[in-house]
Amino acid sequence: MKITLGLSGSDAEVDLFAVLLAEEDLAGDTLLNALDEALSGTLRTAIKDDEFTGKRDATLAVMTYGKTPARKVLLIGLGPAAKVTAIELRAAAAKAAKVANADKATKLHLALRGKGDAAELRAAAEGVSLGCYRFTKYLTGDRRPKKELESVSLGLRGVKSVKATAEQKHAIAAGEAVASAINLARDLVNEPPNELTPAALADVAHDVAKAHGLKVSIWDRAKIRAEGMKLLDAVGRGSSNEPRFIHITYKPEKARKGRPRVCLVGKGLTFDSGGLCIKPAPGMGDMKSDMAGAALTIGAMAAIGALKPDVEVHAIVAAAENMPDGDAYRPGDVFGSLDGKTVEIINTDAEGRLVLADALAFARKLEPDLIVDHATLTGACLVALGTSTAAFYCNDEEISKRYLDGAKTAGEAMWRMPLIEELRDGLKSDVADLKHTGDRYGGSIIGALFLREFIGDRKWIHLDIAGPAYLDRVSALGPKGGTGYGILAFLQYLDSL
Ligand code: BES
Ligand code: MN
Ligand code: ZN
Repeated sequence: MKITLGLSGSDAEVDLFAVLLAEEDLAGDTLLNALDEALSGTLRTAIKDDEFTGKRDATLAVMTYGKTPARKVLLIGLGPAAKVTAIELRAAAAKAAKVANADKATKLHLALRGKGDAAELRAAAEGVSLGCYRFTKYLTGDRRPKKELESVSLGLRGVKSVKATAEQKHAIAAGEAVASAINLARDLVNEPPNELTPAALADVAHDVAKAHGLKVSIWDRAKIRAEGMKLLDAVGRGSSNEPRFIHITYKPEKARKGRPRVCLVGKGLTFDSGGLCIKPAPGMGDMKSDMAGAALTIGAMAAIGALKPDVEVHAIVAAAENMPDGDAYRPGDVFGSLDGKTVEIINTDAEGRLVLADALAFARKLEPDLIVDHATLTGACLVALGTSTAAFYCNDEEISKRYLDGAKTAGEAMWRMPLIEELRDGLKSDVADLKHTGDRYGGSIIGALFLREFIGDRKWIHLDIAGPAYLDRVSALGPKGGTGYGILAFLQYLDSL
C-alpha cells in the first residue's frame, strides 16, 4: 500500500473519500461545504437527518451516485477538537481503512483536519495501515478478498498546494514502519501452531534481523542444553518441535557514552496444551497465541531497525511448544536453570515463567539498564483486569511512571499491579530453591514474583498481556485475533529516553 500526501478536494479520483471532523468543524468547514455542493446539498441533509455531530467514533456514510469520482463519502467524528490526540487520529484513520476494505475499495482519500505536522501524519499512516489488516493467508476461493487497498492519499484542507517536505515523508514512513511491525506481530499470533513452530518463529526473527542489518543468534535444542537453559529445555521436552532461543541485537551506529541499554524479552510458546497438566478442550486452540510476547518482541525489532532510536535494544525470545508426551516434564520434577537456582515443577501448565526465567537470566548478564518482558502469562490476569488491559509490574518508581505515561500516550491500557511480598511464601519448596507456582489466588502476582527471582539487581518491567494480546472481538485498530499490543507503548518509552 502506498501512502502519499496531497490536497483534499471533492474531485479526488478515489473509491472512498473519508473526512476527519472534530465537533467544532461541522458548522463552517470549507471541505464539508464543497462536498455538500458537489452532492447537491444531500450531505448536509444527511448530517441533519442522522444527527451526526462529529462525536468521537461516530461515522456517517453518504453514497455519491456519480456526483463525485468517489463512490462514497465517509465522515468520521474525532470528538471535541481540544481532545484530539494521536490516539483519536489513529483510530479514525483505521476506521476509514476498515470501511475501504469492506467496500472493496482500492483507493482511499483521508482528509486530515490539521496542517500535516509530523505527529498527525504518523498517526494517520499508522491508523490506515493497521485498519486495513486482515489475516487471509489460509482463505481460498470465494473467501479470498478480491481487492485490497492499494493507495491512500492523506489530504490537507484550506491550503492551495501541497508538496511533502522531507520531515512529512519521514513521518509517513515511520507510521508505516510501526504499523507493519504491529501487523507482523499480528500475523505471527494468528498463524496456526502446526505452521508456526519454535523453529519457524526463529526463522522469522532471523529474516527480520537480516532485513534490518541486525545481529541475530539462534540456539537449537542442543545449544540450549549446552548453555544450561534447563528450564527452557524442560518445557520443550514434550514436543517433537524443538525449542529455540533467539537473541537479536540493535546497536545505534554512532557511539555515545551513557546510552541506555534495554532488553526486550518475550514468552514464545507457539502452542500451550498445558503439557501433562493438560488444559480443557474448549479454547485450547487459542493457545496458539501464547507466543504473543515473542511476536511483539520480534515485531518491535522490525520497527526499531527502521526507526533507529538512540538506544541499544536486545530482543530475547524463549520459544517452545508445551505438549504432553512420554518425554514431557512432569509435576514433581526438579530442574536447575541458567541462573543456577533449582525449581520444583508443580503444574506443567505454568510453563511460561519457566522459559522466561532462563531468558531473564540471559538478559541480566547483558547488564541492561532495563529489562522489559511481555508474556501471556496467566489466566488470573484476565480475571483481574479483563481483556483490554495488561497487568504491569515494575521494581522502580521512576521507570514505572515514565513507562505508564508512554503507554497512555500510545493508547495502550496498562494497570500497575503490586508485587505483594507475602505471596512469595507460596513459592517455597521443600526439595528445591523454588516452587514455580504458589496459591491459586493472586495468580498473576505470583507469576511476577517468580520471574523476579531471575532478574538479579536489574530494573525490570513485567507485562502480563494475557488479555489484550489476542481478542475475540474487533478492536478500534484491527480485527479479531492477534493485536500486536505492546509495541506502541514500548516504542513510546524508547522515544522518551
Ligand atoms: N498461557 C497460559 C495463560 C493464559 C491463559 C494466557 C488464558 C491467555 C489466556 C499460561 O501458560 C497458563 O496456563 N497459566 C496457568 C498458570 C497456573 C497453572 C499457575 C493459568 O493461568 O491457569
Ligand atoms: Mn500454560
Ligand atoms: Zn502459556
